Amino acid sequence: MNPAANFTEIKHPVIARDLTILRNKKTDTANFRLALSRISTILAYHALNNISLESFEVETPIQTTTGYKLGTNIVVIPILRAGLGLVDAITTFVPDARVGHLGMYRDEVTKKPVDYYVNVPDGIENALVLVVDPMLATGGSACDAISFLKSKGAREIRFICLIAAPEGVEAVQKQFPEVAVITAALDERLNENKFIVPGLGDAGDRIFGTT
Ligand code: PRP
Repeated sequence: MNPAANFTEIKHPVIARDLTILRNKKTDTANFRLALSRISTILAYHALNNISLESFEVETPIQTTTGYKLGTNIVVIPILRAGLGLVDAITTFVPDARVGHLGMYRDEVTKKPVDYYVNVPDGIENALVLVVDPMLATGGSACDAISFLKSKGAREIRFICLIAAPEGVEAVQKQFPEVAVITAALDERLNENKFIVPGLGDAGDRIFGTT
């Protein structure tokens, strides 16, 4: 696979350490959540890179200087359920970000995404839409979500995940070359059950303790 320019795998020592915690099947729910939270913060920091700023004058206790506020509306769209685990990291940096939800699960037999809930805020056409989901496996869920959001008017979309399979990245880039994909790890491949290898198992189950 030869990832295009719109693909970023973030390398960071904290990510390498925390990915190991997430991959380890012996990691309990509490430590899984803590590691996920730390990695998500680094991902969010990168995903918000190069967004526009608006300048204004601010008075320090000493003198007036130039200050900045974010000039971009941010909408976060977690793909339920597992995507919920990445929302807090973004709202930590952007407390007024609006959050929409797309309920979707992957059918265990067909491996295709099944939609069950939609709640997306108005005005996504004027926002930077950050779609978040820990896992990009076949890319079916991501492509379905992006396609839906574009049909609702979204113009700038970035997809943020913890772990991506080459197959999923290719699927998104083929269908939506304009969508930036940001991940903490590009893994080897999918197995016969369409699970990411080496991966970390089922992210939703591990986040919510439902295994
Ligand atoms: C997982 C994951 C993605 C999807 C990835 O969700 O969180 O949404 O599968 O697979 P794909 O790229 O092949 O579509 P899952 O079905 O486990 O649902 P959950 O979030 O409710 O656990």
